Amino acid sequence: MPDPIRPQRGPQETALTSPADVVIFGGAAGGGKTFSLLLKPLQFVDIPTFSAVIFRRESPEITNPGSLWDESSRLYLDLGASPNRQLLEWRFPSGARVKFAHMQYEDDKLAWKSSQIPLVGFDQLESFTAGQFWYMLSRNRDPSGRVRSHVFGTCNPVPADDAVGGWLRELISWWIDPGTGLALEARAGAVRWLARAQDGDAVEWYDSAAAAADIPLFKGWTSADTAVERARAALAAFDGVLKDYPGARKSPDALLKAGYCQYELKRYAAARASLERVTGDFAGTQAAQDAAQRLGRMATEGH
Ligand SMILES: Nc1ncnc2c1ncn2[C@@H]1O[C@H](COP(=O)(O)OP(=O)(O)OP(=O)(O)O)[C@@H](O)[C@H]1O
Ligand SMILES: [Mg+2]
Repeated sequence: MPDPIRPQRGPQETALTSPADVVIFGGAAGGGKTFSLLLKPLQFVDIPTFSAVIFRRESPEITNPGSLWDESSRLYLDLGASPNRQLLEWRFPSGARVKFAHMQYEDDKLAWKSSQIPLVGFDQLESFTAGQFWYMLSRNRDPSGRVRSHVFGTCNPVPADDAVGGWLRELISWWIDPGTGLALEARAGAVRWLARAQDGDAVEWYDSAAAAADIPLFKGWTSADTAVERARAALAAFDGVLKDYPGARKSPDALLKAGYCQYELKRYAAARASLERVTGDFAGTQAAQDAAQRLGRMATEGH
């Protein structure tokens, strides 16, 4: 029997089980963000009236080999859903629907004028405009009242002065370390509430729903980052240490951590080399024990 499909422990699980109305799941390439976006609707597909629309900015980003449509086929066919390739839509046995759509031009958002969508998904939200995002947030409702309406967006790190996605970086800046541009670990998954006047640019943040309750539009927000992103940042830091202080090459702990980071980044040969240096050069230390344990795990995993 194939392994059951489930969220990976860590950021993917945090993002998928978040109670927030709006979840922004950030991180570097390969962290499982798009996969999470495809898992998210599965929490509701037994509800006949449920529907989700998952957006990408451009149409080929949905239909190219290995893109959203192909990945969704891997997941949804086994659950008894029927595809409609023309409409880029899946219908589940209950009648629930999950659709993919693109929104290349700013005004493409207007096609959704009279729609009500319980789950709005964005893959690579930083490639959309603020106008498109806020417009779709206004379409985010469940007419049947059976699902809490919510938005799930993925994003890659983006600088605040980015012409397209800078607005998003600014919006989630509370969760981001201004020095590195990466998510602050201690804040990942923390929920805050946002109020925004209809059609206004200004937003206000609150630490509790009660504080924001008088405001016409408010939403709970969170942002999670991925382990890969953290590993990349950590590795850069360790590489810096090892380069700047050649003596650190003699530090079993620095080498051990570099090995762990290389492992997270799937650089298995490099990880093995680092870890073997720890076991070889520093036998008898705690670091050597830990390194041996990780090498054992890698062997079991076939790396
Ligand atoms: N929970 C999971 N179970 C099984 N496979 C998974 C899971 N999460 C992610 N994957 C697999 O890991 C790979 C990377 O995931 P994904 O494409 O979602 O990453 P991403 O964060 O969207 O990357 P990018 O920034 O490049 O878009 C994919 O092949 C995906 O199928
Ligand atoms: Mg992706």
